[in-house]
Amino acid sequence: MTDKTHAVDLITGHRRMRRNRKADWSRRMVQENRLTVDDLIWPIFIVAGTNIVEPIDAMPGVNRMSIDKAVEAAKLAADLGIPALATFPNVDITLRDDTGSNSLAANNLINEATRAIKKAVPNIGVITDVALDPFTSHGHDGILRDGEIVNDETVTQIARAAVLQADAGADIIAPSDMMDGRVGVIRRALDAAGHQNVGIMAYATKFASAFYGPYREAIGTSGLLKGDKKTYYIDPANGTEAMRDAALDVEEGADMLMVKPGLPYLDICWRMKESFGLPVFAYQVSGEYSQIKAAAANGWIDGERVMLETLLAFKRAGCDGILSYFAVDVARILAKR
Ligand code: PBG
Repeated sequence: MTDKTHAVDLITGHRRMRRNRKADWSRRMVQENRLTVDDLIWPIFIVAGTNIVEPIDAMPGVNRMSIDKAVEAAKLAADLGIPALATFPNVDITLRDDTGSNSLAANNLINEATRAIKKAVPNIGVITDVALDPFTSHGHDGILRDGEIVNDETVTQIARAAVLQADAGADIIAPSDMMDGRVGVIRRALDAAGHQNVGIMAYATKFASAFYGPYREAIGTSGLLKGDKKTYYIDPANGTEAMRDAALDVEEGADMLMVKPGLPYLDICWRMKESFGLPVFAYQVSGEYSQIKAAAANGWIDGERVMLETLLAFKRAGCDGILSYFAVDVARILAKR
């Protein structure tokens, strides 16, 4: 018997990881995570008017749409099998004020969009963001008084806005403002209004991130925002604090948790999934989207492959789904497979 032991075998003890990787069929056999269309939530931007599809410079391929066009988009998404939309309004500048009072108008842009979408496409989930930034003249998520974003008054207003969103047909309310106590107050307000079946997807850990830049152009707050959001969003340096914040949202009755931004915070996705066992979603935010688009447009990366790889990474990190501006592109690719 000849000794076929190779030098590498002396090191590996015949354990060779590459055996399972040797062919496409065996790679498919051992693939641990898969991206499906059910993992996708599509964030869309709404603007007043009709027949408007307005490109957003900082987000190539993403448009602001008037409600009629948003309804068409919702149909497209439903046909592709995308389970839900997340809607964001670009509110006319004349309707913005210090307290974000338009958030309390039953027929404001976001609520009218929900009504139209749910009427035309009842089987797609509508997730509405509740925060004051699209409605305030200063671009902050809450009421600004003497240089401070006042917590409790903001929470009261946000809870009222959430009830109006639910009245309009929203399926899930997603508070993105990071005020203390908001999830519990919103839950009670929804229940008191008979909206027991409307869920809450808490922006459980929202970091004070530079990756939101293009979004602020999309909803028209970039020129307005005074200062930063560091007194209410989480410091990107802090993982343990983020977990504590998420734990409060769980106690207060959140049905689903979200991590935002996504890719730079995969450790948080993993910790949240392990700790709470609630569904965890990542928001691949505007800056994450735009940097992939920009590099791809320059020919520096293969945009399609990077897009799919980032989304798969969220699955590996334990996420149950991803809010992504790529949702339609990805759904089309997945449909062809
Ligand atoms: C604020 C809000 C933000 C996003 C959605 N809602 C952050 C911000 O403007 O500070 C960001 C979404 C994205 O960047 O894609 N309530």
